[in-house]
Amino acid sequence: MKYGYFDEKNREYVIDRCDVPVSFTNYLGLENMCTVISHNSGGYSFKGSPEYGRITRFRPNGVPLDRPGHYVYLRDDETGKYWTVSWQPVGIDLKEAEYVCRHGLSYSKFECKYNGIIAEKTLFVPLGHDVELWDVKVTNTSDRKRAISLFSYVEFSLHQIDLDNKDFQMGLYASGSSCTEGVIDYTFFYHPDMHHFMTADFEPDSYDCVRDEFIGNYRSESNPAAVENGRCSNSSKLGGNHCGSLHKQFEIEPGQTIRAVLMLGAGGAEQGKKTRKMFADHSVVDKAFEQIKNYWRSRLANYQCITPDEGANVMLNTWTPYQAATCVTWSRFASFIEVGGRTGLGYRDTAQDTISSSYLQPDKVKQRLVELMRAQTSEGFGLHLFDPAMMDESGDAKANLPTVLLSGDSDQSVHIPELKDVCSDDALWLVAAVCEYLKETGDIDFLETEVTFADEGSATVYEHLKKALDFSAKHVADNGICQGLRADWNDCINLRGGQSSMVTFMHYWALRLFNEVAAYLNRDDDSERYSEIASRIKQAAAANLWDGQWYLRGFTAEGRKIGTDEDEEGKLFLNAQSWAVMSGLSEHDKAIRAMDAAYDKLFDRYGLHLLWPAYSKPDDGVGFVTRVYKGIKENASIFSHPNPWAIIAECMLGRGDRAFEYYTAMLPFYQNDMMEIRQAEPYSYCQFVMGKDHTDHGRARHPWLTGSAGWFYTAATKWILGVRPTFKGLEVDPCVPKDWDEFSIVRKWRGSTFNISVKNPDHVSKGVKSIKLNGQEITGLIPVQQPGTDNDVQVLMG
Ligand code: GLC
Repeated sequence: MKYGYFDEKNREYVIDRCDVPVSFTNYLGLENMCTVISHNSGGYSFKGSPEYGRITRFRPNGVPLDRPGHYVYLRDDETGKYWTVSWQPVGIDLKEAEYVCRHGLSYSKFECKYNGIIAEKTLFVPLGHDVELWDVKVTNTSDRKRAISLFSYVEFSLHQIDLDNKDFQMGLYASGSSCTEGVIDYTFFYHPDMHHFMTADFEPDSYDCVRDEFIGNYRSESNPAAVENGRCSNSSKLGGNHCGSLHKQFEIEPGQTIRAVLMLGAGGAEQGKKTRKMFADHSVVDKAFEQIKNYWRSRLANYQCITPDEGANVMLNTWTPYQAATCVTWSRFASFIEVGGRTGLGYRDTAQDTISSSYLQPDKVKQRLVELMRAQTSEGFGLHLFDPAMMDESGDAKANLPTVLLSGDSDQSVHIPELKDVCSDDALWLVAAVCEYLKETGDIDFLETEVTFADEGSATVYEHLKKALDFSAKHVADNGICQGLRADWNDCINLRGGQSSMVTFMHYWALRLFNEVAAYLNRDDDSERYSEIASRIKQAAAANLWDGQWYLRGFTAEGRKIGTDEDEEGKLFLNAQSWAVMSGLSEHDKAIRAMDAAYDKLFDRYGLHLLWPAYSKPDDGVGFVTRVYKGIKENASIFSHPNPWAIIAECMLGRGDRAFEYYTAMLPFYQNDMMEIRQAEPYSYCQFVMGKDHTDHGRARHPWLTGSAGWFYTAATKWILGVRPTFKGLEVDPCVPKDWDEFSIVRKWRGSTFNISVKNPDHVSKGVKSIKLNGQEITGLIPVQQPGTDNDVQVLMG
């Protein structure tokens, strides 16, 4: 069963059955303003922070699904019939109307055909502006002149979600609205600098700023009184709940199309008037839309591929990089799952997001890297969750926060946790993140940039990386294995005094990456020191972490093994196997055995489970993972994020068929026609898929903001298709299914283009026989080429 299809030409996912069981969402806005919007136009906007920069209100996890939203109602003024341009909230019987939603790259378009009228509404946030434009077109397809009323509707929110959701005593009496010269201005009395506006390119016939006047008593967004009456009541008020509804009646001749542009933005009436003037010119709207299209066209052009696999092509050329880049921009706390209750950046999540995104948005990645380093302590660990606004150069937390947060007793100072509350992996990701950025861009000078620490002092980027490595080197147990602390990558493995094999492998991996930098810079002293640490880890791992058939996941504080065949539950953990291999630490025969065990015990048609067998009894020595229902999240679901690590490990072992089997098992594209099982949108990776121990086996949950997108992108582009930037050149080292005859990649790197064509006449998975660069045979890396050049690369596998 399916609800839509991929329109490759337009890079859109088209939902042509709008009665989807869960919200299919999209992200609008690439800079400050963001809207999370569903296929039914439900959702919310914020500026900067989903916690304290709210613009519109949303009732999360509600019934009915995703309300309220950013709606346009149409009303036939002859008959009084009304509907919305998105299927909901009016929800016309789908036998009588045709509804389509097109989620595109940073825009969503809603189309409907009903009652002799075709209408469409495109929502997007233009670059350089904190405003969401609603480009509405209404066409009369009947043979008589029609009088159609149009009403916009959003429900405004207080800026801070906590006040908006809980403190009505303050909220309801401190917010007010007015409408002058066609601009609705919503403001918050306690914070008079913060306003939101709603305006349009037309002179409204009527308006409502008061929600309950627009909706009416005992009604909802499905049947608002104002729309039913054909007119708003020109309401506005100091205090109460507020909305943005502008109403205009249009007379439309047969065959005629009218266009109206609505604008929802951050800022007061003056800003609204300026914005109104600017976008009343439709050519400016068209240009702004074209800019968004170009933004993605040019970024995605950095990597395009044609492989024998349709799903891989569609996902790698459009949707996976789009999702990965969205994670870098909006991190984790702005979705329908995390609805603004937290703000800022997760250390490990953001660091990992940047790893995949340097191709697409190097500037944004660089900004994030600096923010991450500012949130690193001089001890070397990272602050697990932080708001970059609190980490400015001066270390003055209050300097950057909106004053709305600073009232009362709220303590906004930077809190440095005790060791037991530190996550042992956080800062290690920084090493890989910086290395990938350097390899992609060649911006080696970045290493010399001085960046402050979260607590005291500052150091160069290079020294920040050493601090991260030193922290892990310091916090090892007597057996040489890294301590697990509050959590390692797995939030629900809480070892406190115990040890984590995953962090041990990660440490080894980060040391290897760092050593490449040190070698490139000829820093022999560092190379020597960190290679020595790496070899100590290798010995400790060999002595302590092999369980006989696979690698252990660690030890509890009391010294019990985790992830051992001796146990009844939690015998085998995926990450212990993939990281032993991916880090380069495991010897070959153990690597093969460990990865074979993962294949045999953890894999099914939807991907690899995180562990086996699921826990059924709480065990606080291991952590919260044992207190989650079986098959859900960290307790033996098919957690998406670690699957690409197994792909990378298989590619390192040269097993291209298996790597690709893992890749396609989780590829959302291939689940488009099994929505009765998957439910979630098929263009986005989800955080996890319910595991085999759950009755909803195969159901995907928590779309969009997950490290899976970035890691799948990395695994597919750098390891399966195998084009990897290094400090000195481009490495081509694919690991593909044996039955692939050929594939090609257009890769832009350091300013020039490489048209790479790979032939596989011997049907191998791995191995490069020859490379020709612009007709000349070369060995090893493809050197950096003159910026602006187009280069032909012919690769022969065998
Ligand atoms: C979630 C968190 C991430 C963590 C993972 C596993 O995806 O965002 O930080 O690594 O769960 O617990």
